Amino acid sequence: MAEEIIKKNDLIYLILDNRRKWLVTVEEEGEFQTHKGIIKFNEIIGKPFGSVVFSHPHEAQGYKFYVLKPLPSDYVLHMSRKTQIIYPEDAGLILVYSGIGPGSKVVEAGCGSGALTCILGNYVRPDGYIYSYDIREKSLKRALSNVVKANLQDFVSIQYGDILIDDLKHENVDSVVLDMPQPWKAIEKIKNYLKFSGTLVSFSPTIEQVKKTTFALKENGFYEINTYELIKRKFQVKENATHPEVRMIGHTGYITFARKIKDLRNPYREKKPKRDEFVELNGMPLRGNNE
Ligand SMILES: C[S@@+](CC[C@H](N)C(=O)[O-])C[C@H]1O[C@@H](n2cnc3c(N)ncnc32)[C@H](O)[C@@H]1O
Repeated sequence: MAEEIIKKNDLIYLILDNRRKWLVTVEEEGEFQTHKGIIKFNEIIGKPFGSVVFSHPHEAQGYKFYVLKPLPSDYVLHMSRKTQIIYPEDAGLILVYSGIGPGSKVVEAGCGSGALTCILGNYVRPDGYIYSYDIREKSLKRALSNVVKANLQDFVSIQYGDILIDDLKHENVDSVVLDMPQPWKAIEKIKNYLKFSGTLVSFSPTIEQVKKTTFALKENGFYEINTYELIKRKFQVKENATHPEVRMIGHTGYITFARKIKDLRNPYREKKPKRDEFVELNGMPLRGNNE
């Protein structure tokens, strides 16, 4: 594949070292100020992604900066955010376990800072779409600005919508993705938006939320209900000093997946009342028909 040349308005991932990295939009005549000197955009435009530039003034500063094309994980970790975001590893699991990919139609609530929205938007291209909702004006504004910065506005809409109350008028979408405080309260409503065999994804930081969501999914006839937690360890690799990094994010959240089924009832094998039910006798559970 041909080299990709940096143009005006492209988003670049500018890296000084392991700790100092920025997502920057390249303007025609502008510059980017750092405490290690100034990066001039006219020295970046026309170069291929993967080049290096040196900070000005060259004699006093002259630090080497790397110019990369941002990956979805770079958007997420460096975007403007106020709410807890979805981390790239969780987004990766969401993509493969939900089946969201090119052409998928997805309803998302809430969009928060738009971190997950941007990852999903990136993967449904060129003919899929993310309909993302939130109830907080600040989240809507921030998410929209992040979506525009990532140049995904043709594949994503950010709108006001309360997933618990509003009729959002969707049908036959491939997936519904929830990252909000009370996902279990949304299950009955969003079931109508999903196509049969479609996937429900719910991200929750606590196991109490997971339990309530799982019970709501069962009550609403969902199937293949599974919850996962991912723990990611990064490694420092050095001569004679290779080991897991000392600091790590210990917990992000639990991710529950489920599939919508057309009819769970089996008319040929109706459940017969059991002879051996548990019965309560003065508060003591006993097995037997207690006749
Ligand atoms: C943790 S944030 C989502 C973060 C997002 N996934 C990201 O990666 O940036 C939770 C969001 O859910 C929104 N929310 C809460 N209740 C909602 C509801 N009933 N309908 C839509 N959004 C809701 C909140 O306003 C908040 O912005």
